[in-house]
Amino acid sequence: AAAGPVAPFLLPWYDRHARRLPWRAPPGTPAMDPYRVWLSEIMLQQTTVAAVIGYFERFTALWPDIHALAAADEAQVMAEWAGLGYYARARNLMACARAVTAAGGFPTTREGLAALPGIGAYTSAAIAAIAFDRPETVVDGNVERVVARLFAVETPLPAAKRELAALAGTLTPIRRPGDFAQAMMDLGATICTPRNPACVICPLAPLCAARALGIAAELPRRAPK
Ligand code: ADE
Repeated sequence: AAAGPVAPFLLPWYDRHARRLPWRAPPGTPAMDPYRVWLSEIMLQQTTVAAVIGYFERFTALWPDIHALAAADEAQVMAEWAGLGYYARARNLMACARAVTAAGGFPTTREGLAALPGIGAYTSAAIAAIAFDRPETVVDGNVERVVARLFAVETPLPAAKRELAALAGTLTPIRRPGDFAQAMMDLGATICTPRNPACVICPLAPLCAARALGIAAELPRRAPK
C-alpha cells in the first residue's frame, strides 16, 4: 500500500494539469479569497463543475464580495440561482453571508466553518483547506475511488467509507493541503475514472497497489443491493 510519497507525486502533476476553474487560484499562487471558495463549494454541493461555471461567473459579477451578497435582494438571488436546484442552498447562502458579515469575516477553521448555515462536514473541510491552508482532508466519491485503488481496499462501499476516509487522512500534506485536495478531485475526475482508468498516464501509478495487482478498474467494490 502507498502512503507517504503521494503529495510529492501529485502536486507536480497538479501544477501542470490542474483544471483552470474560475474559483481557483493558479497552482502555487496565494489562495483565492474565501468568499469565492465558499460560493463555489456551495454551488458544487449537488451540481457538476460544468453546470456551476456560468452561475459562479454571474454571481461574482453581480456580488463581488460577501458584503454585497449579504445586502442583496433575496428575490434577485433566488432568480439568479434558478436552474441550480436545491433551493435550500440559496436560502442558506443568504443566511451564511449575513452571519459572516455580522461576524466580521469567515471563520478560518473547519469547526468554525461547520457552524455556519449550509456548511457541513465536506464543505467545511474543503473551505478550510482551499481558502485557509488548513491540513484538512476532503473526501468525496472521487477521492474514495482514488484511495481505494492506491491502497487496494477490498472492503465494499458503503462499509469502507470510514476506512477510506482514514487512509485519505494519512495522505494530506501540511504544505498545500488545498491544492492537494483539488488535485485528488481532478485526478479522480480525469484519470482515475470509474471505468477505464488511464493508469498509463497516472502520476500515482508507481504507488498504486491496485494497479500492481491488476485490479484498478474493479475498485472500489460495492456491496450488492
Ligand atoms: N467539487 C467540489 N469542490 C470542487 C473543487 N474545488 N474543484 C473541483 N471540483 C469540486
